[in-house]
Amino acid sequence: MTLTLTLTQKSIFILLLTLSLLLPPTATSSLKNLLESRGLPGGLFPENVKSYNLDQNGRLEVYLEGPCMAKFDTRVLFDSVVRANLSYGGLVGLEGLTQEELFLWLPVKGIIVNDPSSGLILIDIGLARKQLSLSLFEDPPVCKHIQVEGDLVDKAGRKLGFQVQR
Ligand SMILES: *[C@@H]1O[C@H](CO)[C@@H](O)[C@H](O)[C@H]1NC(C)=O
Repeated sequence: MTLTLTLTQKSIFILLLTLSLLLPPTATSSLKNLLESRGLPGGLFPENVKSYNLDQNGRLEVYLEGPCMAKFDTRVLFDSVVRANLSYGGLVGLEGLTQEELFLWLPVKGIIVNDPSSGLILIDIGLARKQLSLSLFEDPPVCKHIQVEGDLVDKAGRKLGFQVQR
């Protein structure tokens, strides 16, 4: 299919493109670029990243507006602060990310991309590793705010008290 644009459409398009380049990058989009520069998909963190910090040891701290729930293949909970060691192709020693797995909520320990050309990403949930398609993680997901009652990350994966805010 060929797309033919009128001159006005073209100039509006160019204007919008210029404007979008002039706007300051949001924390979410600059974190997306950072992840992509490390061989990871850009959508590992949700769209409501407030700020993040990466120290010279590769310790990454991501601050969200609050705890929230998103969905990749299954539901995931992000704590208001998520920490991990960032290296090329991997986030290890993750803290603050929990994934639903067969009715349990299990902390995600690591996220690894060994070979981007495989199109696969490895999620380390301690008891097991699972392989998913990289395409699930391309864009930062929408993350619904949740109200947490007690500990968000229960080590046993049970009794997680939270409510999705409407
Ligand atoms: C993360 O990095 C710190 C040093 O910055 C190190 O002490 C720690 O063991 C690392 N954790 C993992 C799981 O690699």
